[in-house]
Amino acid sequence: MKQKRKKVVLAYSGGLDTSVAIRWLQEKYDMDVIALTIDLGTVKDLPAIKEKALKIGAIKALVVDARETFLRYFIFPALQAGAMYEGVYPLATALGRPLIAKLLADTAIEEGAEAVAHGCTGKGNDQVRFELALQALSPQLQVIAPVREWKMSRDEEIRYAQEHQIPVEATIKSPYSVDENLWGRAIECGILEDPWVEPPEDAYKWTRSIDKAPDRPRYIEIGFDNGIPVSLNGEKMDGLGLIHELNILAGKHGIGRIDHIENRLVGIKSREIYEAPAAVVLHQAHKAIEGMTMTKDALRFKETVSTQYADLIYNGLWFSALHQDLVAYVLSSQRFVTGTARVRLHKGSCTVVGRRSPVSLYSHALATYDGADAFDHNAAVGFIKIYGLPSKTQAQTQMKALMAGETIHVDSIVPPKVKPKKLARRKK
Ligand code: ARG
Repeated sequence: MKQKRKKVVLAYSGGLDTSVAIRWLQEKYDMDVIALTIDLGTVKDLPAIKEKALKIGAIKALVVDARETFLRYFIFPALQAGAMYEGVYPLATALGRPLIAKLLADTAIEEGAEAVAHGCTGKGNDQVRFELALQALSPQLQVIAPVREWKMSRDEEIRYAQEHQIPVEATIKSPYSVDENLWGRAIECGILEDPWVEPPEDAYKWTRSIDKAPDRPRYIEIGFDNGIPVSLNGEKMDGLGLIHELNILAGKHGIGRIDHIENRLVGIKSREIYEAPAAVVLHQAHKAIEGMTMTKDALRFKETVSTQYADLIYNGLWFSALHQDLVAYVLSSQRFVTGTARVRLHKGSCTVVGRRSPVSLYSHALATYDGADAFDHNAAVGFIKIYGLPSKTQAQTQMKALMAGETIHVDSIVPPKVKPKKLARRKK
């Protein structure tokens, strides 16, 4: 009796690489391929992708709408965490990978597959993210990375596709490599690899150029509940609708273009272009509400957490205890982050121009220089006396040169530079 063929679940986008991978896995590994397409919120013709997979030869093509899960467990926690890799990248792709890995692993179990496959190259972060996640979730699964393995050039790939009746036309138009989901769009390759060259307009799809953005600014109000955006212009909105709307609105005003020399996990610097209008606006608005509702110390500590969180997500360590710990902290830190930010969208910039909160720590009575001033000016005297005690004591003992009567020059604060050349000459 003929042995049953092994099955592999392939993360299928419908693009050239993963389309070629369907046939290649059948030929090279002699496995039945189940194509799994995951909708993380970008408009694509899902039925057509499914049909394409089957036509190429997948024994099954599954489509999963994971948008709500992505929003609730990936995007919103990252927003609450203030997670921006290297201060600028809102991590759209990086956040999507662990979810795709989880769905691959779950599908493999449901379908009785022994292997999973992804279309990443051997040079990017995504292969690491997928495989770290899969190792944590299902170490028994064999992981195959066709694109990393086959070493075909783009032309060879196209030839392979043509020889195997795999449709290519629609998939090779763009000179860029693009990944997108509802949190943002990443654009790489082609002319963008020259970090001196300004990205051509055709790299962008979600955002208008500044010249084409409206001349008049647009004001919007975003309401937050415990760090989660819940309304736009006073109207309650579900998260998916709100992000969709903001991507359009802010994109129209040219907001959310990011041009970044990024430090990849695999050790190289790469030039990355992103479009993330909603993410940029929401991070800024969220920060504004935190500024109103968190103490100075809490804000300082949160900055450290944000950096750690962003690095951990970028580096593919989603399924880790440290991540759970950070999330627990972040969630707790958001319990007072409720309020509304007023934001001006204009010609590529997004500016917070107003903020309010029912639990604001901003007190007008304490801050004002006008009549109704509640701040105790007299108390400042004692405060300065005690707060300044350590530096006063030090000035009088260790740093006498600072005291009145002595000449003050830069060298008394900053030690003179040691000039190695001079020293060397003196030695001779
Ligand atoms: N550099 C980004 C990251 O590592 C984006 C990767 C996008 N992938 C792509 N195929 N264009 O998260």
